[in-house]
Amino acid sequence: MRKQIAAANWKMNLTLQQGEKLLDDIIALPHQLSEHQQAVFAVPFPYLAMAQQKIAEKKNVFVAAQNCYNKKSGAYTGETSVEMLLSVGVHHVVLGHSERREYFNESNQFLGEKVDICLANNVTPIFCCGEALSVREANGQNEFVAKQLEESLFHLSTVQIQEVVIAYEPIWAIGTGKTASSAQAQEIHAFIRSQFAAKYGDAVANNISILYGGSVKANNAKELFSQPDVDGGLVGGASLIAEEFNAIINSLK
Ligand code: PGA
Repeated sequence: MRKQIAAANWKMNLTLQQGEKLLDDIIALPHQLSEHQQAVFAVPFPYLAMAQQKIAEKKNVFVAAQNCYNKKSGAYTGETSVEMLLSVGVHHVVLGHSERREYFNESNQFLGEKVDICLANNVTPIFCCGEALSVREANGQNEFVAKQLEESLFHLSTVQIQEVVIAYEPIWAIGTGKTASSAQAQEIHAFIRSQFAAKYGDAVANNISILYGGSVKANNAKELFSQPDVDGGLVGGASLIAEEFNAIINSLK
């Protein structure tokens, strides 16, 4: 079975002390991850080492950065390299979140370069895609997402693409309390998988985890994750509340 993943995206929230407490609280709550299930915590850069230390002994629990740069090292003030992430034990990174695309003008091509440097260093990219409301209203979501995948990922080899985790996040559902229905999520997740199947074949496509993001909560996670092509979630707001996120972890199939 392909990996089922509950990924927390803290975004730019919480102090170090609040973050420590949240992780302690979640770890203390009862959850059991099967061999094919994972919990991932994408925390702000200054907390990566702390978070990594806290979960180091936990099986199938990982810490992720929320971004990285596309260059190895050098005079790039304010940026963080993949090598730096590895040096604090971090092997996952969220790339191409819609907030980064929108506020920091990250293009598909630039994100493709970030994906490359991650894969060259055995770091798992959690690659976000998804359309704005205007695109959805014009029924253009499939073409929009297909272009994001094609321009950032389709240069990868058959081996490499299976190292990437996809997070489909419709922008109109992020932080709005408006969730895609489980049928809407399933429909576009199946479409995304079909794109991978067309490019890399069915067996490869069936190996790729596709997470749903956008107002995932404890009370809708089970229904969303029960869809055959929804392999867990990337969770913002609800990941900041220990009981909520724990319930989301426990909703993985
Ligand atoms: P949300 O955020 O769960 O608060 O909608 C999801 C995300 O942006 O990753």
